[in-house]
Amino acid sequence: MSDFEHVFATPPEGAAADWTISQDWRSYTQVEHDTWDTLYDRQMKILPGRASDAFLNGLKALDLNTGGIPDFALVNPKLKALTGWTVVCVPGLVPDEVFFDHLANRRFPSGQFIRKPDQLDYLQEPDIFHDVFGHVPMLTDPDFADYMEAYGKGGQRAAGLGVLPQLARLYWYTVEFGLMESPQGLRIYGAGIVSSATESVFALEDPSPNRIGFDLERVMRTLYRIDDFQQVYFVIDSIEALKAETLADFGPIYDRLQGAADIPVETVLPDDRVITRGSQTYAARGGRFAA
Ligand SMILES: [Fe+2]
Repeated sequence: MSDFEHVFATPPEGAAADWTISQDWRSYTQVEHDTWDTLYDRQMKILPGRASDAFLNGLKALDLNTGGIPDFALVNPKLKALTGWTVVCVPGLVPDEVFFDHLANRRFPSGQFIRKPDQLDYLQEPDIFHDVFGHVPMLTDPDFADYMEAYGKGGQRAAGLGVLPQLARLYWYTVEFGLMESPQGLRIYGAGIVSSATESVFALEDPSPNRIGFDLERVMRTLYRIDDFQQVYFVIDSIEALKAETLADFGPIYDRLQGAADIPVETVLPDDRVITRGSQTYAARGGRFAA
């Protein structure tokens, strides 16, 4: 994720020039491995029938449930053979240009640490469960793999054009919090949702949030919240459609966005393809912070 303030301007001690560190898999404790297993088992009670086939097939192909935190030395050969991606460890949040360079070269940066047993439900900084369980299965899908590489390359351009906030919204509402259509109904593919027991249910079933058909410019204008469940989810028709819609040169879009107002999270516009008009009750009651 590139949406948080990063602590360092240069790689911290022990990190390579590209900010990667060794996973040092042998250093994980039994408690840490057990935390992975607990989180994995909990999600697998919730995700069948809710997560997209792309996600569930990727999870199966990578075999991320061999007991404890996956060893990247074992995961990477499988992932690389499928789509050319690998997952690398970084010491925390990295600068935008470092993040984009990794994606542009089909490397997904993951946190090395795992959350503490008393933080199973919420943490602000992404850990290895969010990054690997949440993100990596989707990288086995060839179209999603292409989309992520293109996003990295687009980020490098957007940084020079001063439009990173707009591009970050695309990442947020697809890679992190995206929903998609399927013949059986809406399905989750965003990593922020599939790695969260509570948001996996909320995103699909709660009457509060708006669920709106994906529109690239609309998404790039829409604010988002990092501290609670989303108030709007955008729904793609398919991964192929997302890739096709984002293959275009964003230059003319960025030009139009210069004068366009940001759209608040709860707003429904007349042109929106509304799939569910939400009540916004959850947010109105104070959300996560409600008494
Ligand atoms: Fe993420």
